[in-house]
Amino acid sequence: MTFDFNEVRAAYERIRPYVRKTLLEESFYLGDGERRYFFKLESLQRAKSFKIRGALNKMLTLTAEEAARGVATVSSGNHGSSVSYAASLLGIQNAKVIVPEGTPQSKIDRIRYFGAEVLQMGKSYDEAHRLGLDYIRRHGLTYIDAYYDDPKSYGGQGTIGIELLEQNPDIDTIVVPIGGGLITGIAVAAKALKPDIRIAELLTRLQMEFERSREPWEVLTRAPNEPAIQLAL
Ligand SMILES: Cc1ncc(COP(=O)(O)O)c(C=O)c1O
Repeated sequence: MTFDFNEVRAAYERIRPYVRKTLLEESFYLGDGERRYFFKLESLQRAKSFKIRGALNKMLTLTAEEAARGVATVSSGNHGSSVSYAASLLGIQNAKVIVPEGTPQSKIDRIRYFGAEVLQMGKSYDEAHRLGLDYIRRHGLTYIDAYYDDPKSYGGQGTIGIELLEQNPDIDTIVVPIGGGLITGIAVAAKALKPDIRIAELLTRLQMEFERSREPWEVLTRAPNEPAIQLAL
């Protein structure tokens, strides 16, 4: 599978009419006269996150037949509500979002708000994912991937890289909370436009421990609910 800047540029043209060009707001409390810091306020998208970019990019490339059959994803967070919102924007009637059993009602309400049907499956996220993908295949729906498996998804997320360099071409470092898809798309786009730009990944302390540990599950069981700034709400 190849993925390059052309994919992100095409995504930008495709989704531009549907997404907000969010503010690139200068921080008034960070910075010291030498360095300036900006926040790309993707929380001002209608569904409250950047995830709308990837969801829309994928859904705008469906054939009429695929759109008529419907779409689905597995996510209880920002991606789930973004798929729901994108489906409502594009008039896709059959949109399903699969979440694990016991997902908080506030998350379910947020997904349902834009019209998608919420299906609860499995005791954990992993189980929901496995059962969900099977359901999606059996029902002939198109799977809208959240981050790492579909260039249409991270190509859409990468449009942030184009947009923020348009807004401020002097940016020399972009710090991206990860995941996987967001930083992939942004890095490919920003490096194509400005090869010497630095891309830094933002991990919580727990994520770092998790990635470096030989016993990752031990890290999770030790601190399963530690709050993290970039956790999807
Ligand atoms: C608010 C927020 N930031 C960052 C991420 C990480 O994105 P990705 O998984 O595409 O790297 C997510 C993913 O759910 C998110 O919701």
